[in-house]
Amino acid sequence: MQTCYWKLQNNEQDQEVMVKAAAFIQAGEVVAFPTETVYGLGANGLNSEAVAKIFAAKGRPNDNPLILHIADVKDVEPLTTGLNENAKALMQAFWPGPLTLVINKSEIVPDAVSAGLPTVAVRFPSNKFAQQLIKACGCPVAAPSANISGRPSPTNAQDVWEDMQGKVAAILDGGNCGIGLESTVVDTTEPVPVILRPGGITYEMLTEVLGAVEIDPALQGDSNYKPKAPGMKYRHYAPKSAMYLLEGEAASCLPQCVENALNAGKRVGVLCSKSIAQALTQNDNASGNLLVASWGESLEELAANLFYLLRDFDRTMPDVILAEGVSESGIGLAVMNRMRKAAGYQIVTVNNGELSLKVGSLPEFMIK
Ligand code: TXA
Ligand code: MG
Repeated sequence: MQTCYWKLQNNEQDQEVMVKAAAFIQAGEVVAFPTETVYGLGANGLNSEAVAKIFAAKGRPNDNPLILHIADVKDVEPLTTGLNENAKALMQAFWPGPLTLVINKSEIVPDAVSAGLPTVAVRFPSNKFAQQLIKACGCPVAAPSANISGRPSPTNAQDVWEDMQGKVAAILDGGNCGIGLESTVVDTTEPVPVILRPGGITYEMLTEVLGAVEIDPALQGDSNYKPKAPGMKYRHYAPKSAMYLLEGEAASCLPQCVENALNAGKRVGVLCSKSIAQALTQNDNASGNLLVASWGESLEELAANLFYLLRDFDRTMPDVILAEGVSESGIGLAVMNRMRKAAGYQIVTVNNGELSLKVGSLPEFMIK
């Protein structure tokens, strides 16, 4: 399939592009588009055959349901059997924005979207291009992240092109996504709402509106629990190189670990804050074997750059990636959730003054 690539300019010409993109979606084709979180792969959410094309393009397992995107609060009603007070309060506070609500579904939502569950996930994105596209389509737009299943989500149109060229009808280039991590998913069907996936709307922001919010225990990586968002059970966001995440006090050992790995002859990728990056690159030992990816200073910058940097490591292919863990406050909870998954839960901590790995054993170069 020939994939059209259309750059959005923030001028009148965008309207023509939107009409052409909406025509593809109305004809049952798939179009990639920007949102404030990550790029999405959109199709008519009420058309099972169109939705099946999304699963085919991504190589996504059928048991993983999709989010329906709308561009007007009132468009949630026909998709559900009714909204409780918690759902209404969350919409009021955070829509449009990076929050997805799981609600009991109505009969018009196809099983292909909900993966046979009695619920549907709905989101009203704040990105203006996403809103224009959904409005032009005149239907709810089913859209997962626009990556091949298992890869980090794309946060710019070039990364979408890399994964989806030849597989979808068109890609809309709306520049970089501001937030950079997928939306927060909250199950509103329980008496106390549950965070199924942390994201841009933080735990702290949710408790401020709702009082009490729970976090799905499966998010802590405990294999005794099955995640309630089917998508959270898959190995995700994973770069091709082996990755280790240094958490808590272990993070201060990062420069030493990097040096040991270099001395052991490894090509080392390092994902870290600006201050550590500066220290590492000043080191005279730094050779062509050291690939430093700095995310900047704040947790927001880390969120915005994480997937791009992980995908970049798939281009440079170091032998090993060492990543600096961060605090779990605010968007840090979502960042750490994605980093732990990217590392396949190879989490390094300090125990009795020694580095140790939560699962499995430490590689040779980390043992002093
Ligand atoms: O920010 C986002 O949410 C992006 C942009 C494109 O909007 N979309 C996105 O979609 O991340 P996706 O398909 O990659 O992730 C959707 C997540 C999956 O973990 C899925 O299992 C969960 O939401 N989900 C969808 N419907 C659900 C439902 N009815 N019950 C529980 N979890 C659900
Ligand atoms: Mg995804």
